[in-house]
Amino acid sequence: MKKEVLEKFSEVFGGTDGAKVYFAPGRVNLIGEHTDYNGGHVFPCALTIGTYGAARKREDKLLRFYSMNFEELGVLESSIEGLKPEKEADWTNYPKGVIWAFQEKGYAVDCGMDLLLFGNIPNGSGLSSSASVEVLTGHILRDFYGFDISNQDLALIGQYSENKFNGVNCGIMDQFAIAMGKEDHAIFLDTADLSYQYAPVKLEGAKIVIGCTNKKRGLGDSKYNERRSECETALAELQKVVDIKSLGELSEEQFEEYKSAIQDEVRVRRAKHAVYENQRTVKAVEALNNNDIALFGKLMNASHVSLSKDYEVTGAELDTMVEAAWKQEGVIGSRMTGAGFGGCTVSIVEEDKVDNFIQEVRKEYKEKIGYAADFYVVDIGDGPVTL
Ligand code: GLA
Repeated sequence: MKKEVLEKFSEVFGGTDGAKVYFAPGRVNLIGEHTDYNGGHVFPCALTIGTYGAARKREDKLLRFYSMNFEELGVLESSIEGLKPEKEADWTNYPKGVIWAFQEKGYAVDCGMDLLLFGNIPNGSGLSSSASVEVLTGHILRDFYGFDISNQDLALIGQYSENKFNGVNCGIMDQFAIAMGKEDHAIFLDTADLSYQYAPVKLEGAKIVIGCTNKKRGLGDSKYNERRSECETALAELQKVVDIKSLGELSEEQFEEYKSAIQDEVRVRRAKHAVYENQRTVKAVEALNNNDIALFGKLMNASHVSLSKDYEVTGAELDTMVEAAWKQEGVIGSRMTGAGFGGCTVSIVEEDKVDNFIQEVRKEYKEKIGYAADFYVVDIGDGPVTL
């Protein structure tokens, strides 16, 4: 891939003198969905697919961007000064947001750059193509300027840029999973204090299969912010009767004891999901550490039911795909992954049943939804690297 992106870089920007090639992964979350902005646990891992970037520092103030995934947009330009989000800037709002965030945080990023990207994560699919671009941009800036910042800082800067520049109130999971990725390990992260542990993912003859619904998120971002504020309101109501800082502090029993403080049935279900999903995540990691993959799979399935019925972030496409998955032989667990409202599912499937699984789920999805789904058998990879 290095060769291909350098060739294209040379064609688009003229020569490759001073250019280097970098990579940042995408991520999939195994369990712990919509818990990261509720002070709960998540359990994501970085993938071996992601975003490749060829980049070169410039001496002037010009930023030039080109994506091999959106060639029709051509070269998009901007100045390094006075950065602000613009509709016409399209995907370049992600790298621009990160450059802006570095500047906001006092890092002297004052030269332009030429940046060419190629991503092999399906865009808008819920595998965090945008967080991958954010962490990649941070990694490139660190390399250009020699800033003494950790991968965890790259995650925080990426999240800051997404929240403040691109207006999506996301939690820390995606950027953290990408920046801190470790081959063959998932990250058990407590979003309340960012403490984390790597857990080896030993699936003993099973594979991680991603199913992409090809339903674009559309209204997803505004619904995402809506769920977040429903949880914030529920938390404020609970705080009148119990001393907690986040929903993640409650056990299932405590939630049942105090839930009558929440004044609206919908908000009770939202908060219930946040509390129960957090506890499920803790149990799932314990199950994995005990080599109890069957229990891990059951908890994944329960996570999907909760996201569908209580949190209501699935929709016909994700539900159809997961329900089709549950029926197949050799499926250990299957659920939606990421924000929801379209995007992807993650399934753990016995290796010798994977082909049949893909064939059957593909068929049922096409029959019921009317258009095709895509499938990827993925491996767990490392965080950002210079190639
Ligand atoms: C998106 C956000 C994450 C997280 C998930 C849901 O991917 O970026 O911070 O909230 O949705 O778990």
